[in-house]
This record gives sequence, C-alpha cells and structure tokens, in this order.
Amino acid sequence: SFDAKVGRAGTEQWSSRMVYVLAMTGSAVGLGNIWRFPYIMGEHGGGAFVLVYLLCIGLIGLPVLMSEALVGKFGRRSPAKSVAAIAQASGSNRGWSVVGTTGSIAGFLILSFYVVIAGWAVAYTWFGFSGQFTGKDAEQIGELFGGLLASPSSLMVVSLVMIAGITFVVSRGIRAGLEAAVSKMMPLLFVLLSVLVVYAAVTGEFGQAVQFMFAPDFSKLTWTSVLVALGHSFFTLSLASGIVIMYGAYLPEGTSIARTSVQIALLDTVVALLAGLAIFPIVFANGLEPGAGPGLLFHSLPIAFGSMPMGQIVGGLFFLMVVVAAFTSGISLIESTVVRFCEITGLSRINSAMIVATTLGLMSLLTVYSFAGADWASPEWLGMSYFDAIDQLTEKVMLPLGGLAIAVFTGWFVSREISLKLLNGNALIHALWLFCVQFLAPAAIVVVFLQSVGVLRF
Ligand code: PFF
Ligand code: NA
Repeated sequence: SFDAKVGRAGTEQWSSRMVYVLAMTGSAVGLGNIWRFPYIMGEHGGGAFVLVYLLCIGLIGLPVLMSEALVGKFGRRSPAKSVAAIAQASGSNRGWSVVGTTGSIAGFLILSFYVVIAGWAVAYTWFGFSGQFTGKDAEQIGELFGGLLASPSSLMVVSLVMIAGITFVVSRGIRAGLEAAVSKMMPLLFVLLSVLVVYAAVTGEFGQAVQFMFAPDFSKLTWTSVLVALGHSFFTLSLASGIVIMYGAYLPEGTSIARTSVQIALLDTVVALLAGLAIFPIVFANGLEPGAGPGLLFHSLPIAFGSMPMGQIVGGLFFLMVVVAAFTSGISLIESTVVRFCEITGLSRINSAMIVATTLGLMSLLTVYSFAGADWASPEWLGMSYFDAIDQLTEKVMLPLGGLAIAVFTGWFVSREISLKLLNGNALIHALWLFCVQFLAPAAIVVVFLQSVGVLRF
C-alpha cells in the first residue's frame, strides 16, 4: 500500500505505477521549475542556456534518473543500503553507499533555502487572495517584495510553517491522503500555468519571450552557464539526493523504469517551460530585467494578477499551487535526510525528524538573513551571502559530482546482468542507457566541471 515506511527493508510497494509517477512528479515538480528555472535562464541569457538544459535533461538527467530508480528497485531499502546491496550483488565495493549519505546532506542543504522560498510563496498566497496585487504597477509590486524580504520575523514564521508541515507528514508517515490531494492539485497547477501563458501571450511581449527562450545566442553561453544548466537538471529531477533511490524502492515488479522515467522528466520539463512562457512576456512588457535573480517570479507574475480579470482569485490560487508543489518536494527532501539520520544514529523516526527539523529551522535563518541583506549573512571571508554559498555548493558541486558518482557506479560497477534484468530485459534500452551512464554523462560532467572551475582551458 502507499503507507510504506520508507527506510525499512520490506516488501511494500506502490499500489500502482501511477502512484509512483505521482510521488516522483510531486518531488520533481516544485520551486525548481517555477522559481529557479526562469531566473537562472534569465541570468544566463535565455535560448542557448535552455538548449543546453534540455540536452542535460535528456542525455544526463534521464539516464541518471533511471540509474537511481534501478538501484532502489533492486535494493528495496534506504538509499545507502540499496546502493550497498546492489554493489555487493555485483561483486563491487559496498563503500559506494557513501553516495547515499552525501546525497542526503545535499538534500538537507537544499531544503534549508527551499523552505524559505516556499515561505515567500506562502506570503504571496496571502497577498494574492487579499487583493494586494490589484492595480499595482511593476514598481509597486517590487516594493511589496522588498518589504517582505526586509521582514525576517515574518519570513521565519512562514518558513517554520513549511518546516512544521513537512516534518509532521514525514514523522507520521501519513502520505496516503496527501498524495490523493496532490493528484488533484497538480493538474490545477498545470491548468493555471496554461491560463497564465495564454494571458501573457495576449497581453505581454510573447514574441520577444519566445525569441529569448528558444533562439539560442551562443555568444552569451559560458562554461559556468553550462555547469548551472547541468546542476539544475539534477536539481529539477530531484537527482543525486537519494530521493529517486528511496522512491524506487517501492516500484512494483513489472514497472518499466525507462517509461516512468521518461514520463517524469517530460512532465517536469513541460512545467518549467510553461513557467518561463508565463513569466518572460510580462518581464519584457514591463521593462523588468530578465537577469534580476531569485526575485524574478515574485516581481513578474503579480503584475499580471494585478490587472487581469479575477486576478485576486487566480493570483491567490497560483501561489497556493506553488506552495503545494514546494510542499511535496520538501517532503521528499526531508524524508531522505531523516531516513539516513535514523540509520546512522539508531534513533526513532520521530526523534530523528525532530532533530533534523530543529537544525533545519536554524539553518534556514542563513537564507532569511541573506535576503534581508544582513551584514553578518554575507561574511567577508566567504565573498558572497550564505544563500549564494549554499546554492552554489549544492547545484554546482554536490549534485553534479553526486550524479557523476551514480552514473559511474551503475555504469561500471553494477553487473550488466542485474541492470538488464531491472530494465525488464529490454536490450535496446539497456544499451542506450549504458552508453549514457558509462561514457556520455561522466565525460560531459567532468569536462563541464573542470572547465568551469578553471582547471582546464581549451
Ligand atoms: N526537484 C525539486 C524542484 O525542482 O523544485 C527540488 C528538489 C527536490 C531538489 C529534491 C533536490 C531534491 F533532492
Ligand atoms: Na523540478
């Protein structure tokens, strides 16, 4: 049934393939699609970045997604233990399980800023429903955002609401009802995004936005942009953080890993592109800066809500859906950390959840104060804010290297008989997947990584 206690060896399975796809989509689709993708695309010049991103998703993210699902399906236990189990069965070193631990740490670091941005969306849900966007121009909307960031105490409250919510769900294991609710809200998010795209197309600079997103200008592309696109392809598919291994552990026997992985990657990509198509026409129509950074979503869409018919309801609902999408991703993130923490310390699930949540609450203050512009949150020795540091460490270092480790591990250290069997014996799919994880993904990740950290120059 669905109430499987993730983290324990057992025979529980998702009740159907659909439920797995739903849970994985819940984890994948989140702030990464709606908040992060548009703003990093804006910062890295649009089209060429999008193209590289799509290549990263298809040629690196998708194969690694399959790798992780396959490890989980074989191991049927926690990420670290599943890795150890499939390594052992393949005659390889069990020490590979360290990718499970580093993944959980990356997940925790991501979560420390994720809850704060989700908190912004909580505040904006309120702003929307209470009519605070109505009639405001770009400048006034900008002031609304600035006012929110300048109030650490309100941000602490909304972040705490998110932390309490995900901790409650994860410590009690009450996901059945939740996923049922999400299965209705995800389509609503999709519908709302589509409505916004249409509205943006009619009222905004749609042509300019399409041009920006899909006409590649390679002169704007740097190796750093490529690394950002690569890191984001892992981030957006919830890779290299133990999550897919964890959810894959409950895959029903006959499920096709290839097919479900393609579905998840496609859904995730569509939502990200729709978010871009909703946001950029408004950005261009209002003279906003595409490279404005993490505030882009919150600066742009509210302008549309403020002037469209029924904008109060549409705006409130939209940000509510963003909160829901962030919530289901947050659950998967904290679960990965809590499960690993339980295993290492031997504490109960509830106690582990409490300790993780408390630490998380403290860690999230780094992000809150980074955006509030507090001096202490941008220390001189770091040369950037704590938020930037956590963001860069996870997306530019931990996720790419974690993805590399998983590709190399499943490509070279897992027995081919085992991986072929887990891919339902489909030789063609196995060969394509193997080529990607043995050669393509590792080579691409190593080159991009070394190029952008400046070790290699050619
Ligand atoms: N995939 C989520 C998103 O796009 O918002 C975020 C995320 C979830 C990142 C889980 C990493 C992760 F392990
Ligand atoms: Na995503």
